[in-house]
Amino acid sequence: MNQPFVMAGVMGWPVSHSRSPLIHNHWIKTYGLNGSYGLFPVKPENLQQALQGLSALGLAGCNITIPHKVAAMQYMDWVDPHAQKIGAINTVVVQKDGTLHGFNNDGFGYLQSLQDVCRDWRADAGPVVVLGAGGAARAILVALIEKGATEIRLINRTLDKAEALAHEFGTAIHATPWSARHEALANAALLINTTNQGMQGSAALELNLDALPTSALVSDIIYTPLSTPLLDQARLRGHTTVNGLGMLIHQARPAFQAWFGVMPEASKSLTDLLIASL
Ligand code: ATR
Repeated sequence: MNQPFVMAGVMGWPVSHSRSPLIHNHWIKTYGLNGSYGLFPVKPENLQQALQGLSALGLAGCNITIPHKVAAMQYMDWVDPHAQKIGAINTVVVQKDGTLHGFNNDGFGYLQSLQDVCRDWRADAGPVVVLGAGGAARAILVALIEKGATEIRLINRTLDKAEALAHEFGTAIHATPWSARHEALANAALLINTTNQGMQGSAALELNLDALPTSALVSDIIYTPLSTPLLDQARLRGHTTVNGLGMLIHQARPAFQAWFGVMPEASKSLTDLLIASL
């Protein structure tokens, strides 16, 4: 091979559980590229040095995962405006001159995962209900608003956090108390769970879906398990459901393109590979 060797990876602490190497190395093989994607366990106190080392080591860039998504931003030479709004990055691209550019592709990944199951999905199709107000919710809210969502009911166990996001992101967001979550589903077109409720090792999300129109899409960004109790319950009512695997795969695509020069496809073989790894 006479293509240059391209190296990237994921920085996190801990990071050994990350599925990103599986995804990117699958694409490197699929597209016959010369490169590799590794795991970089980086303690919080070493984050700045590790990021500064990317260019010195000749890496194309890296993904950023928990707990570094917010802290990494301050070490970038430039941050994409979309990522700036979210307040966190998940991708670093080393530029030709060695400077670092930061991006956040989580919202893109989420929206693409909806479009996989519902090609003509629109953000303004009707009210959107978002459960949770953490880091993942921020990325999804910014993406929804950029796509033209006009009514987002943001429900969080700690109401203050939902109110703060409504204040920050504007009038489309209506902060709603956790206790009102069941009734808040009335006439919604999309329901999104971004809390950890339903994740392996956590309690199931307690939510009565009676008020939700059966035409509504129901999505959960959790992928362990692949189908959460919420999605099981929704499918029984006849809803189209979306699990978190699509978001995981699609968020990786723009990063791969930036480093390796190919926009990769979210293929069935990659989905099968990931499912086998869960
Ligand atoms: P992530 O980055 O995945 O979004 P996070 O920032 O830790 O993770 O956010 C976790 C979300 O799950 C929060 O909205 C949290 O609610 P609080 O803001 O009230 O903490 C929500 N969450 C966690 N445990 C919960 C529980 N037992 N019931 C309801 N919501 C819960």
